[in-house]
Amino acid sequence: MTVLVTGGAGYIGSVTVERLRAKGEQVVVLDDLARGHRAALDPDVPFFHGRVGDRALVARIAAEHKIEACIHFAALAFVGESVVEPAKYFENNVEQGVAFLGELLAAGVRRVVFSSTCATYGEPEQVPIPEQSPQWPTNPYGWSKLVMERVLDSYGRAYGLKFVSLRYFNASGATERRGEHHEPESHLVPNVLAAALGKKHEVAVFGNQYPTPDGTAIRDYVHVADLAEAHISALGHLRQGGESDFLNLGTGQGYSVLELIECARRVTGSPIPMRIEGPRSGDPPRLVADARRARAVLGWQPVMSDLPSILRSQWEWQKKHPRGYEK
Ligand SMILES: NC(=O)c1ccc[n+]([C@@H]2O[C@H](COP(=O)([O-])OP(=O)(O)OC[C@H]3O[C@@H](n4cnc5c(N)ncnc54)[C@H](O)[C@@H]3O)[C@@H](O)[C@H]2O)c1
Repeated sequence: MTVLVTGGAGYIGSVTVERLRAKGEQVVVLDDLARGHRAALDPDVPFFHGRVGDRALVARIAAEHKIEACIHFAALAFVGESVVEPAKYFENNVEQGVAFLGELLAAGVRRVVFSSTCATYGEPEQVPIPEQSPQWPTNPYGWSKLVMERVLDSYGRAYGLKFVSLRYFNASGATERRGEHHEPESHLVPNVLAAALGKKHEVAVFGNQYPTPDGTAIRDYVHVADLAEAHISALGHLRQGGESDFLNLGTGQGYSVLELIECARRVTGSPIPMRIEGPRSGDPPRLVADARRARAVLGWQPVMSDLPSILRSQWEWQKKHPRGYEK
């Protein structure tokens, strides 16, 4: 029996594939490589180059590989791009996502682990953010994920689909062989380290007038290897007949942008010049998870997500791969 991993050539997907295979799981990957990298997967990983909305392809994969469960990472995930091109996000993440779930159900696949996001909360009323907080995203990316959460919930009630929707906070860090490389890169950690490597002149800090102790935005950084383990635990939960759920994946500890840059200076020994810019619209001051529920339901606890370990792991990876994954 095989686990279908969509978006498995992407950042979090490829690390999850690595961990699944290390545990002896059979995996097949579907990715259109719009944002992922074939080189992020070992050559012997069964790989289908295509879109999750291609129903004929999904049916073929299910028939050829006896798919038992799916981890659905595939999505476009740049907040800024989603504001400028919302149609692209709703088509890719929602239209294709719905077609994909329909085809999974048609193939008899009833277990899905879904990549959701803290962006579904929008501007939270309460921090740390518990799962039952109101969800009102501030950008089309967040809406596309929230719509998919509602689709999963409805399909669960009507069609017996069982799912765990994992709302990640800021994925970051690297394993020995796989790290974060997006084109363009909008995430803070790889950008800070690119400045440390001299690949960028300076790192942009968006906003220093937030209502936080140093004025910069506070985020909850969670190591990608810890995220991968949470997916494997969620899969185990569903296999044991566990109920569908929505779970935050974070540490419960927030760091400001300036704290992160300061920590990166210590880890890299580089001065890392920075430049203050205006805040990005829809960027809340503070996003920190109340992560107790994931621990209670999955027994999951982050073990690599302290900030120095996150930065050190991605730093090691970026030094080895200064241009990221080669084409
Ligand atoms: N990185 C984060 O901090 C973060 C936080 C919260 C949620 N997420 C979610 O986690 C998932 C993975 O994020 P990531 O950072 O690894 O992103 P990523 O862009 O590195 O990976 C996504 C992968 O999905 C593929 N893909 C996109 N649309 C597809 C489609 N229609 N058909 C087939 N493949 C498609 C891309 O080519 C890419 O390889 C996404 O769903 C994202 O929204 C990420």
